[in-house]
Amino acid sequence: MASGATAADRDIPGGYASVRDAYDTVAADYAAYFPDTRAETPLELAMVDAFVAAVGPDADVLDAGCGAGRMSRYLADRRVRPHGVDLSPGMVAMARRDHPDLRFGVASLDALPFADASADGVLLWYSVIHTPPSGLGELLAEAVRVTRPGGHLLVGAQSGHGIRDVAPSYRRFGHDITLERHLHTADDLAGGLAAAGAEEQARLVRRAVGTERDDQAVVLARRA
Ligand SMILES: C[S@@+](CC[C@H](N)C(=O)[O-])C[C@H]1O[C@@H](n2cnc3c(N)ncnc32)[C@H](O)[C@@H]1O
Repeated sequence: MASGATAADRDIPGGYASVRDAYDTVAADYAAYFPDTRAETPLELAMVDAFVAAVGPDADVLDAGCGAGRMSRYLADRRVRPHGVDLSPGMVAMARRDHPDLRFGVASLDALPFADASADGVLLWYSVIHTPPSGLGELLAEAVRVTRPGGHLLVGAQSGHGIRDVAPSYRRFGHDITLERHLHTADDLAGGLAAAGAEEQARLVRRAVGTERDDQAVVLARRA
């Protein structure tokens, strides 16, 4: 997968600047609180494992919106070759600190610094959740663009309609940030992928568990 320059100094649309700033603020606590996939249930991990099986051993996979790198680690431990990118330099710094053997860079999902069809797969794991429904199609189309024909995409998000204020969750860590997330249904995710040329292969919708406020949706798709 050929990489262009990182986007650290590139303009970021206004809406994403506040998302970037919020994650820069909470990056160290996020990395400590989500060091691995213990927050995922076996159902989500089954979808990630299905994605890993679909892309195959030694696949080049873009972990788009990689945060502090825990999903890149999960992929690498299963013989996939991840390349993580994230909007937040702070999150990328945590990813590099905690996973120094893996590749990470700063980039926005709406302008991925990769050539067309350069990835065997793209993982969008809870990284489209700060994008409103009106912008979802653009991000999914960009992910499909960098996926080679026959390659796979996996998208996970909280399921439903509307907006949640995430800021209170971070107040217990002493952070006063502005951060909202947008709910997306499996139909929204699959529809956006299909519009960009990636056909749905499977989907998971499960009810909220524990302290979760929302159901969860995961869609696996294949670029035609
Ligand atoms: C809830 S975290 C999930 C991180 C990681 N995928 C994980 O599962 O731990 C959301 C991440 O998406 C990133 N993000 C949100 N919008 C983005 C965008 N437009 N471009 C790149 N990254 C974005 C944020 O910076 C943040 O690191």
